[in-house]
Amino acid sequence: MSERVVPLLSAETIAARVRELGQQIADEYRDKNVVLVLVLKGSFVFGADLARAIDHPRCRVDFLGTRSYGEGTDSSGVVQITQDLSRPVEGEDVIIVEDIVDTGLTIAHLLELMKTRRPASVKVCALLHKPARKKVEVQVDYVGFTIEDRFVIGYGLDWAERFRNLPFIGVVERG
Ligand code: IMP
Repeated sequence: MSERVVPLLSAETIAARVRELGQQIADEYRDKNVVLVLVLKGSFVFGADLARAIDHPRCRVDFLGTRSYGEGTDSSGVVQITQDLSRPVEGEDVIIVEDIVDTGLTIAHLLELMKTRRPASVKVCALLHKPARKKVEVQVDYVGFTIEDRFVIGYGLDWAERFRNLPFIGVVERG
């Protein structure tokens, strides 16, 4: 069976939107200590670009390693933490940086977890949002792109660990 990756969002389109998100976050957090919590592995590319788009002297970056117990391309929302934050975030203003919010189960779980760490505030920034698949109500404060119900890959997003290294976002077609 052959595979073809059909582009959905080009590297240039993504870069322009990431710059806008970075400027918005820099403006809104001007007087705060902001901690970007990158949810691994999926947000490693988006998070690296977003962090560099945020012109802010007191911005920290930390990582939360996660593994979903979901089967195939479906999330169960049960998330195993494979790597915890390197420092406490108590009293700080946290932005959870996700690659994609699909059913919302993962981010709902991570928001609950983050609240136990007593930050001053927690917001969510997701590059992609697929509202058609929503199973729980979660507020996504910063959204890069709202997309239709397609399984997407690239720019950090994988399909069975493949395609994370693509510089753009696409859809795999098999035939
Ligand atoms: P949720 O719990 O259903 O919101 O799913 C969140 C996680 O599932 C994301 O962080 C991704 O790792 C993965 N995921 C959901 N949709 C896609 C997709 O279209 N492509 C690649 N991974 C996805």
